[in-house]
Amino acid sequence: MAQQQLAELRHARTGIELRPGLDGVPATQSAICDIDGEQGLLTYRGYPVSELAANSSFLETAYLLIWGELPTRDQLTAFEQEVQMHRRMSFRVRDMMKCFPATGHPMDALQSSAASLGLFYSRRAIDDPQYIYDAVVRLIAKIPTMVAAFQLIRKGQDPIQPRDDLAYSANFLYMLTEREPDPLAARIFDRCLILHAEHSLNASTFSARVTASTLTDPYAVVASAVGTLAGPLHGGANEDVLTMLEQIGSSENAEAYLDEAMTEKRKIMGFGHREYRVKDPRAVILQSLAEEMFARFGHDHLYDVARGLELAAESRLGAKGIFPNVDFYSGLVYRKLGIPRDLFTPVFAISRVAGWLAHWREQLGANRIFRPSQIYSGSGPRAWTPIHERSPASAA
Ligand code: SDX
Repeated sequence: MAQQQLAELRHARTGIELRPGLDGVPATQSAICDIDGEQGLLTYRGYPVSELAANSSFLETAYLLIWGELPTRDQLTAFEQEVQMHRRMSFRVRDMMKCFPATGHPMDALQSSAASLGLFYSRRAIDDPQYIYDAVVRLIAKIPTMVAAFQLIRKGQDPIQPRDDLAYSANFLYMLTEREPDPLAARIFDRCLILHAEHSLNASTFSARVTASTLTDPYAVVASAVGTLAGPLHGGANEDVLTMLEQIGSSENAEAYLDEAMTEKRKIMGFGHREYRVKDPRAVILQSLAEEMFARFGHDHLYDVARGLELAAESRLGAKGIFPNVDFYSGLVYRKLGIPRDLFTPVFAISRVAGWLAHWREQLGANRIFRPSQIYSGSGPRAWTPIHERSPASAA
């Protein structure tokens, strides 16, 4: 049934029309993040993401998102130290990861590992502020360690322990690449984490809020969100963008690729957004971070392909309000940082845990379990038939 026909369906009791994908339907009230899709503006707790990306750190931004205010120096120092103390993961989780198939996708490994934390911290004291603080610290601290650990384990190596003398982003790159990163690379990576930390009620955050509304533990909330983020229409797009750019090969081929994709009604990965009708403000900043990386560490010809595609799409997709989103340039930054392609979405998850936890806390603050309705379109009442009376048509 076409989207238009679907949208004309109304709920019998409430008269509310069906909105596929809940497009435009407010499912909650939130004070965490605001998006102006027409102007291309994004704020976290009122602060423009451009200012946070320029001046803040990921841990400071995570604190802001979760507790609502920028931390004082003492609050930030305490939070940084707590996160640093909880970076290590249990040998049990490490040994569990060693049983995962090396060919498994890192997002599946992350979802399993995040959920397993619920086994170690099973007390569900979600009305206890200390429990909430501890869960926030553990998840923010351990998710990067888990992502880096699976990378080494799937290569047949033992994971590297976190280094307490390295800040959050530098430590992740060290655990992943076994080399201490260049300070500029670590700073650019930290800015990428700020840009990916929160984005109102996107699919994975909605998933987190629905799971949180049942009052389950925060580890299940994050595992639920990780599974949602893994999809190619959501967080998984950043992996597919690089594959697409490699397929195109050169900026000269961009027009032809676009023509073919549009003829075949294929989506251009890294383009389009439910909220933005202009270029995603995060894509603007990520593009400049990519250029900063290339200026310092060497050019990447795929950037020229990306620019060619963006320019070619301006007339054809721009007219429909379809522009680059957060996933279009992020992969080029991560590729230059030496992050394997199938870890791009786990990196997205490292960052978005801050937003998921902010929404988890907010949901607990004014909870009502999510239970939307539906418009039934199945069979009317009918009697059971013995199997010998059934025909293939009726069984189909
Ligand atoms: C993220 O929600 C968030 O905030 C997500 C996110 C976050 O920070 O959490 O921003 C992160 O998920 C970014 C999006 C990453 N995904 C991709 O890049 C995959 C490609 N993009 C599309 O699948 C799509 O744009 C979505 C999923 C992002 C948004 O889809 P919508 O809002 O449901 O739009 P739609 O699929 O209903 O399309 C509306 C029209 C259609 O054309 P018509 O049938 O009406 O003629 O726009 C077209 C679509 O064909 N369209 C595209 C397109 N995206 C939409 N055409 C070509 N290429 C695209 N990328």
